[in-house]
Amino acid sequence: MKLITILGARPQFVKAAIVSRKLRQYHQEIIVHTGQHYDYQMSALFFEEMNLPNPQYNLSIGSGTHGQQTGRMLEKIEEVLMKEYPQAIIIYGDTNSTLAGALAASKLHIPIFHIESGLRSYNMKMPEEQNRRIADHLSNLLFCPTVTAVDNLAAEGILEGVHNVGDVMYDTVLHFLNVAKCKYESGIPTQQLGFKINSYYLATIHRAENTDNIEKLRVILEAFEKLDKQVIMPVHPRISNFIKEIRNERNEYRNINFIQPVGYLEMLLLLDNCCRVITDSGGLQKEAYFLKKPCITLRNETEWTETLIGGCNVLCPIEEATIVNSVLRSNVDENAYNTGYFGDGRASDKICEIINNI
Ligand code: UD1
Repeated sequence: MKLITILGARPQFVKAAIVSRKLRQYHQEIIVHTGQHYDYQMSALFFEEMNLPNPQYNLSIGSGTHGQQTGRMLEKIEEVLMKEYPQAIIIYGDTNSTLAGALAASKLHIPIFHIESGLRSYNMKMPEEQNRRIADHLSNLLFCPTVTAVDNLAAEGILEGVHNVGDVMYDTVLHFLNVAKCKYESGIPTQQLGFKINSYYLATIHRAENTDNIEKLRVILEAFEKLDKQVIMPVHPRISNFIKEIRNERNEYRNINFIQPVGYLEMLLLLDNCCRVITDSGGLQKEAYFLKKPCITLRNETEWTETLIGGCNVLCPIEEATIVNSVLRSNVDENAYNTGYFGDGRASDKICEIINNI
């Protein structure tokens, strides 16, 4: 088949890295990069270190409001689809690139295969919830990571073309953790040398709901400053200006180590060596789960409800004392983790088999 894969943001590069190499054994795949993420450390680094084939098209959309970004993508993706006329497109997850790809293909009656389908937070204010709902309702093949995702789709009347294949991110972690360990034989890579195993918390914050308001970010950082162990925080470009502003106003944080965004391999090692994770990322919640690291999620809800079982992941509102207590108290029995919820690490093989049999 002639397939077009539409990518744009960091988590999509991670998922495509494992699926693309398998798809390409049987199909012609053209990668279209919308340019939603464009910094070297947010994009090219991932293609390089995960061996993801270079995009044939880079639409260079860049940043903007949600409407601007999605609108520009829609127009340019349509041009590519009209030129290439693939037999189907592949989209991942719930970003603006996912939505634009789904809309463009749907209007041209090109079938849509959606990987990581069926997730719901039931919070319609999140751009990701809007994107994934629309993408799911336009898709022809819906590859779900969990039983919960299948049930969510069924509740909305989506029953056809739905496959529970497991989570491609589980495949990715299993594969790339080994790659990372081989690449960085000494353990934690250079940038983080000096951070001792199990001596730090790993934190990432980038969700619009936590970062559009500087006050919330201030509360989160004050909580981190009061923790008993150092916090290592790769800074997403979305919050770098706010962080600069806050750091200019107060004495330097003594307990927070702000670092540049890191590539996937470094991130996996930082994760594997940390003692707990504090995040608002969907992907990192699961990666923490796969590597049996207790996770404190700074949100009121999660799409990955399986991770909450046994307290492996704990939801936490943005209140200083609550964040501190949640991190300090979190204590999870290793037996509570059950990666079986997310499949057997062969989601990408199953997706390829289903596509091969069309
Ligand atoms: C997007 C996704 C989110 C995903 C996240 C992963 C949507 C609605 N959100 O959020 O679901 O979890 O990617 O990171 O699609 N910026 C740069 N350089 C870059 C990329 C972004 O400086 O390479 C800055 C820009 O100021 C931009 C801001 O970050 O305005 C936000 O980027 P954007 O792609 O719009 O959303 P993310 O927050 O990254």
